[in-house]
Amino acid sequence: MPYSTSAMVVVLPLFRMLKFQFHNPKKDEVLVKVEASSINTADWKIQKGMLRPFMPFKFPFTPATDISGKVVNIGSEVTAFKVGHKVVCKLHFGKGGGLAEYAVASERDTVVRPEEVSPADAAGLPIAGLTALQSLQLIGTKFDGTGKGANVLVTAASGGVGTYAVQLAKLGGHHVTATCGTRNIDLVRSLGADEVLDYNTPEGQTLKNSSGKKYDYIINCAPAISWQTLKSNLSDNGVVLGVAQPNFSIILAFICGMFTFSKKKIKIIGVSLGKDDLQFLVGLIKEGKLKAVIDSKYPFDRAQEAWTKSADGHAQRERL
Ligand SMILES: NC(=O)c1ccc[n+]([C@@H]2O[C@H](COP(=O)([O-])OP(=O)(O)OC[C@H]3O[C@@H](n4cnc5c(N)ncnc54)[C@H](OP(=O)(O)O)[C@@H]3O)[C@@H](O)[C@H]2O)c1
Repeated sequence: MPYSTSAMVVVLPLFRMLKFQFHNPKKDEVLVKVEASSINTADWKIQKGMLRPFMPFKFPFTPATDISGKVVNIGSEVTAFKVGHKVVCKLHFGKGGGLAEYAVASERDTVVRPEEVSPADAAGLPIAGLTALQSLQLIGTKFDGTGKGANVLVTAASGGVGTYAVQLAKLGGHHVTATCGTRNIDLVRSLGADEVLDYNTPEGQTLKNSSGKKYDYIINCAPAISWQTLKSNLSDNGVVLGVAQPNFSIILAFICGMFTFSKKKIKIIGVSLGKDDLQFLVGLIKEGKLKAVIDSKYPFDRAQEAWTKSADGHAQRERL
């Protein structure tokens, strides 16, 4: 079943005999029968050619990287998994392969999925969850209650990355202000945000919270916000974590920041694979400390609908 991280999941029907390209796993790979895969913004950006000339590496290209499923074959040097293990995988970004009945994943990008974590919740984790987690790790967030909380803003908090960022920031003891569209205010509040700003209002557009306190960190998941708007809301040593695809003003600010002594900085985030990080996130879901917000689920033969909805950029929150 495909679904998108903010989220549409595509569920693969059992015993469905569809044509698929069978891959034998290499020595360090596992072959997975896919139960669910999720669609991220990067997937349809690749399709639209927005990541040219880097992506995709070669055609034909089967999209999607975030999957959960069952191991059906293992490479000769695989030690961590056996046939029958339920797993979550982050497939290689440049190779994709997730929107298929079977996918080959590297052992090092695969973790076990506990029974308590559903296939759909697991498939929604890799790119969106890791991006949120790694952004918060970059600012020294501790998730064991020992950290010093900061004043954090998460923009586009109703999206795939944002929904995880809000929850993880709260687990890290931060004070969280979040922005989203009108219909998602309750959702984002339910994830733990201390204050939610509707981006259709003047406060939401200027990013100003009710206390007037500036942010130590802004996890910016909304591509359209300018550097000037972000900067004017930062505390003296504040940092923007640029998750969203950078617009012109952000790129300019990033380049200028390398040659000036401005205390207000922007760091561009690039999600990296990380087995330990993925395992950590799966563990949080299992313990009920983190929840995957799933927009919609689709059967595999309606994957195109999930795709269209994700590409719309405003996936509706239809509670399942
Ligand atoms: N750096 C990395 O490694 C990395 C990794 C993953 C994603 N990204 C990028 O991060 C961005 C977010 O990704 P995503 O997966 O979270 O996207 P998504 O799931 O498609 O969510 C987009 C969200 O943006 C919200 N939104 C739209 N316009 C907004 C505005 N003006 N202000 C605030 N929120 C707004 C929408 O909210 P409503 O539905 O409430 O309108 C929607 O929930 C994308 O640009 C993506 O390419 C980067």
